[in-house]
Amino acid sequence: MSERVPAHPVDPLFPARWSPRAFDAADMPESDLLTMLEAARWAPSAFNYQPWRFLYARRGDAHWADFLDLLLPGNARWARDASALVFVLSDTRLVRDDSDTPAYTHSFDTGAAWAQLALQAIRLGYHAHGMAGIDFDRARARLAVPERFRIEMAAAIGRRADPATLPDDLRAREQPSPRRPLEAIAYPGPFRG
Ligand SMILES: Cc1cc2nc3c(=O)[nH]c(=O)nc-3n(C[C@H](O)[C@H](O)[C@H](O)COP(=O)(O)O)c2cc1C
Repeated sequence: MSERVPAHPVDPLFPARWSPRAFDAADMPESDLLTMLEAARWAPSAFNYQPWRFLYARRGDAHWADFLDLLLPGNARWARDASALVFVLSDTRLVRDDSDTPAYTHSFDTGAAWAQLALQAIRLGYHAHGMAGIDFDRARARLAVPERFRIEMAAAIGRRADPATLPDDLRAREQPSPRRPLEAIAYPGPFRG
């Protein structure tokens, strides 16, 4: 497995988070999942509006098969060995007092909440793998998501298994990815591309 070496000192939690596909198909205690969702709950958001919503299923519960069935096949083939599936939604409207306006930052805020969930997962010995590869229309219908809410993505969460458990094509990709250099994404002053 390739090593992730940060260019500046950061908490080891950050490079430790990555998106594996080999999961051990174990049950997850509800308390672990609730701790991850609790971490998400403490994310910052514009006006503290907290636009995020999380719909979850734990392996083997009454919702598990339904949730798994909403993933595109390319994701379902490995996510079926996860221990929890979480659909992440955001509220596209900002309703306060007498006003009801489009929420400018609903996805941004919800992304922050998802990141907190994913980092808390690492602390608990799990990995959370985000997936936009879901059947959005069927998910909206099956999960009774109102039009006002955007389905952002789903996440498969579990403990890592030996990559040997994966089909050949996925096994080859089972390693943490690199990042663009910091100078390419952050610069003093105006935009540089
Ligand atoms: C919003 C979002 C959607 C993603 N969709 C998928 C997906 O459908 N299938 C998949 O295998 N990985 C998916 N990923 C995982 C990314 O490919 C992965 O996070 C990225 O390559 C960086 O790698 P790392 O998470 O291992 O650091 C998604 C990640 C995010 C944040």
